[in-house]
Amino acid sequence: MILVHCSRKEIGRRWAEILSSEFGAEMVSLSEQVQEYEKVEIAVCWKAPKRMFYDYPNLKFIQSVGAGVDHIFDSENAIPGAKIARIIDPQLSADMFEFILTIVLANMKQLNLYYDQQRRKLWKENSYNSIKDITISILGLGVIGSHVASNLSAIGFNTLGWSQSEKNISGVQSFQGIDGLNDMLAQTDYLVNILPLTESTRNIIDANFLSKLKKSSYFINVGRGPQVVDQALISAIDQGILSGATLDVFHHEPLHVDHEFWTHPKIIVTPHVASITNLDTASEQVFENIRRYKKGLNPINQVSLDKKY
Ligand code: GLV
Repeated sequence: MILVHCSRKEIGRRWAEILSSEFGAEMVSLSEQVQEYEKVEIAVCWKAPKRMFYDYPNLKFIQSVGAGVDHIFDSENAIPGAKIARIIDPQLSADMFEFILTIVLANMKQLNLYYDQQRRKLWKENSYNSIKDITISILGLGVIGSHVASNLSAIGFNTLGWSQSEKNISGVQSFQGIDGLNDMLAQTDYLVNILPLTESTRNIIDANFLSKLKKSSYFINVGRGPQVVDQALISAIDQGILSGATLDVFHHEPLHVDHEFWTHPKIIVTPHVASITNLDTASEQVFENIRRYKKGLNPINQVSLDKKY
């Protein structure tokens, strides 16, 4: 039996529908409708409540319906003995590239400033920036980060990337380790975070990290909120270390109404929409993994339980 739990109920219902049409409605249950807990062997999920999977004694396979699996490890739902898989979908990577490109171009071409000037009926030219003069650094060169980096490089940005192991991506300069990081940050005009959330990346973007950036660089967070020390980010913007930031991910989502990010004049907040799993393009790999589970095979896009990504 396949259990479906997504933090947004309507998304959970859509997954339950498409899984039912593939495997039969009697094989699929939304978490709130499960009657026989011991029959559940597979969970298809996004942000299940803490330790929820401990209620299912025979759960053996957990499929995240997003690229990230931190929601499974953080909620302590990576139950012993269960295999975990995530979504790897070219559409997720393509959408992430489009989002980042949009933010960078809008910022480079001063769109917000001109919008603000328009409201004041102010006709004033500001500095002009071209792609060839801009250096973008990507934190995290996994499947999505590599795609983003290689596409940014292909359209003419000077593109740098930081990752655990050296990466060979055409047109992208690869950096590793703390020295590599500092070297990269010192050259950066736009810093894009796409790191997975693990214990070693939690709070990585703190005051010390931000102090290594080239002055007036711009920060885009499409990785995870807990990788950033919020107060350090605000101070870096207020001190002019950063010229501003676009944030798509947060410590707590939805972002609390009282959070300073909402009203900071140099911060743009988007509601975790940089790249969203497309059910049409992602469902086939979930079906494939369920078939594999039934045949006793390992899932595709399996997550390392040691690395936690
Ligand atoms: C979104 O954040 C995802 O992990 O797919």
